[in-house]
Amino acid sequence: MLAARSLTKEYPSGSSALAVLRDVTFEIPQGQFVAIVGPSGSGKTTLLGLLAGLDTPSRGTVVLDGADLAGLDEDARARLRGEKVGFIFQSFQLIPTLTAMENVQVPLELRGETGAEPRARELLTRVGLGHRLDHFPTQLSGGEQQRVAIARAFSNQPRILFADEPTGNLDVNTGATIVELLEQLNRESGSTVILVTHDLQLAERAQRVIRLRDGAVIEDRPSTRA
Ligand SMILES: Nc1ncnc2c1ncn2[C@@H]1O[C@H](COP(=O)(O)OP(=O)(O)OP(=O)(O)O)[C@@H](O)[C@H]1O
Ligand SMILES: [Mg+2]
Repeated sequence: MLAARSLTKEYPSGSSALAVLRDVTFEIPQGQFVAIVGPSGSGKTTLLGLLAGLDTPSRGTVVLDGADLAGLDEDARARLRGEKVGFIFQSFQLIPTLTAMENVQVPLELRGETGAEPRARELLTRVGLGHRLDHFPTQLSGGEQQRVAIARAFSNQPRILFADEPTGNLDVNTGATIVELLEQLNRESGSTVILVTHDLQLAERAQRVIRLRDGAVIEDRPSTRA
C-alpha cells in the first residue's frame, strides 16, 4: 500500500509561504493502476516526488509499502527507492553515451545483480525494442527512448512504478502504446502504477483517477473503465 497523509509542501515566498500541495490524503492499495491529472502547475510532479521519497514534505507523511518515510534519513530513503520504486521522469533522462542495451544493463550491474545482460535484453524485447539494442538515444525516436526508460525503470521489478507524463511529447498512438505497456506491467507483475498525464482519455484507462487543482485533491474516483 502507498498512503499520503495530509501531505503539504510549501516554499518560502517573500515573507509568507507558497503552498504547492495542500493536505493531500489518499491510500493506494498494492497493484492498483492510478492516474493523476490536473492543470500545469497544480502540483503533480511535486506530489510524485514526495510519494517516491525523492523530496520531503513540509507537513504530513508518506507510507510506502509499510515504511513511514518521515522516519527515514536520506540514505535509508535512497535504499528503499532502489528496492521498491521505479521512476520514469517527465524528460526521459537516458544516458546519451550508452546504447539502449547499456542504459538498462548498467543500472542492473551497479546494483550488483548477476545476469544483467540477458535481463536487459529481455526487458527491451518486452517493450518491443529487441531490434534496437545497439542504438544510442539520438538514434531512437521519442517513443522508443521512452520505452527504454520504461524498461530501465522496470529493471528492479519495483513494487511501485511512478511515471510522470511518459506520453507527453508523443503522438496519440505511441502514447497509447506506452500506456498499454504500463498496463501490462501492472497486470503481470502486480506492481502499483501511478501515471501522471494531461491526457484525460489515457487517464480513463487507469482504474482510478485523482484530480489535483492548486495543490489540492478535488476529485478521487474510479475511472469510467473500472
Ligand atoms: N523549488 C520550488 N520553489 C518554488 N516553487 C516551486 C518549486 N518547485 C515547484 N514549484 C511550484 O510548484 C507548483 C507545482 O509544480 P509541479 O511541477 O508540481 O506542477 P505540475 O502539476 O507537475 O505541472 P506540469 O503539468 O506543468 O508538469 C508550480 O506552481 C511551481 O511553480
Ligand atoms: Mg510536472
